[in-house]
Amino acid sequence: MSYLNIQEPLSTNHEHYGVVSWQSPSNIALIKYWGKRPIQLPENASISFTLSEAITKTKVKYRNRSSLSEWVQFSFEGKKEETFAARIIKYLDSIKSYLPWIEQMAFEIESENSFPHSSGIASSASSMSALALCLCDIEQTIYPTQIDADIIRKKASYLSRLGSGSAARSVYPGLVAWGASSHIKGSSDEFAIPVSSQHSLFNEFHDDVLIVSAAQKSVSSSAGHALMDTNIFANTRYTQADRHMELLLQSMQTGDLETFGKIVEDEAMTLHALMMCSNPSYILMEPNTIAVIKLIRNYRKETNLPIFFTLDAGPNVHILYPDSIAQEAASFIEKQLLPLAHNGQIIKDRVGPGPIKLN
Ligand code: DP6
Repeated sequence: MSYLNIQEPLSTNHEHYGVVSWQSPSNIALIKYWGKRPIQLPENASISFTLSEAITKTKVKYRNRSSLSEWVQFSFEGKKEETFAARIIKYLDSIKSYLPWIEQMAFEIESENSFPHSSGIASSASSMSALALCLCDIEQTIYPTQIDADIIRKKASYLSRLGSGSAARSVYPGLVAWGASSHIKGSSDEFAIPVSSQHSLFNEFHDDVLIVSAAQKSVSSSAGHALMDTNIFANTRYTQADRHMELLLQSMQTGDLETFGKIVEDEAMTLHALMMCSNPSYILMEPNTIAVIKLIRNYRKETNLPIFFTLDAGPNVHILYPDSIAQEAASFIEKQLLPLAHNGQIIKDRVGPGPIKLN
C-alpha cells in the first residue's frame, strides 16, 4: 500500500536524535465498532465524534540505540509504568515492519491524560493515536521525503488502528469513519477518514460525560470484541450496523436530530445487549446508568428538546446535545443527573479540532 511508504532501515553511521510531542483526543462512537478479525480489522464500519477536552499528551525522545538491552522507557504522569511499557513494547514490535527504523532507536516516552485516571474513561484511543502521530513525525524528520501531509495522517491512522481500533478515528477532527462502508466514499477497514457531509449543527455538538462509576472495566475491549466471535446475533448486528450507518449519515446531512438520536441510542443499547447475551455474559451498566438514561428520556419527552445518550463499553453516560440547547441542558444535568454521578464527576466535552503537534 503506497500510503504506508515503508522506508529502508537507516545506515548505521548516521546519528539521529530529537524529541517530538503530540496531543491527541479521545472520541465517542455514534455507530459502534464491536467485533473484529485479524489483524485489528473491524467487522463493521463505525463513526465517531472526535472530542476536544479528553486528550493524551505524549512526548517521545529518540536517539540511536547503543545496545540491545535498551529500547523503550515509558512513564505515565511522571511515574515509570511497567504495565503500559510492556503494552507499548508489544505494540512497537508489532509495527516494526511498517517503521523498520524503530528497531535502531531507543525511546523515552512520557505521557499524560487531561482526564483523571479515577474517571474510568478509556484512554487507548487518545494514547495510541498520540504515540502513532509522534512516530510518523519522527519518520518525517529522519527521512525528509516530501510526502503529502494527508498521506502521513493516513499512515498515522493505520498505525493507531494497530494499537487500538478506535484510535484510528482519533487522528482526524470532527466526524470520522473507520471501516469499509458502501455509504462512505473512500472508507477502508485499514484506516479512518474524516467525513464532512453533515449539517452545521453537528460541528458544535456537546458530549458531557457523566461519571457513574470510576471502577476499572471488568472486561477489556479486546476480550469484549472476542465475545462477538461466538455471539449468535453477530451477523444480525453487522447488518444492523450497516443500516444504521446509512440512516445516521442521512440524518446528519439533513440535520434530522430525532433520527440521529434514535440511532445513536439504539447503538448504545445494542452494544450493551450484545455484552449481556455473550458467553460469558457481562453487565457493564450500573443502576445509576439506567437511572440516568430514564431521566434523559423523560426530560426529552416532557420538553421535546434534542438531548440524547450514548455509552461506551462501561457504565458512564455520554450526554449528547446541540449547542443551541446548551443552557437548558446544563440546568437539567446539574439538577437531575449530577446527583447520580460518582463524586459529582462530569467531563464537559464537545466535538473537537483533532490532534495538535506541541512544541
Ligand atoms: C465500545 O478500540 O478499545 O468503544 O481495538 O481492542 O483496542 P481494541 O478496542 P477498542 O474498542 C472500542 C469499542 C467501543 C466502540 C467504539 O469506540 O467504536
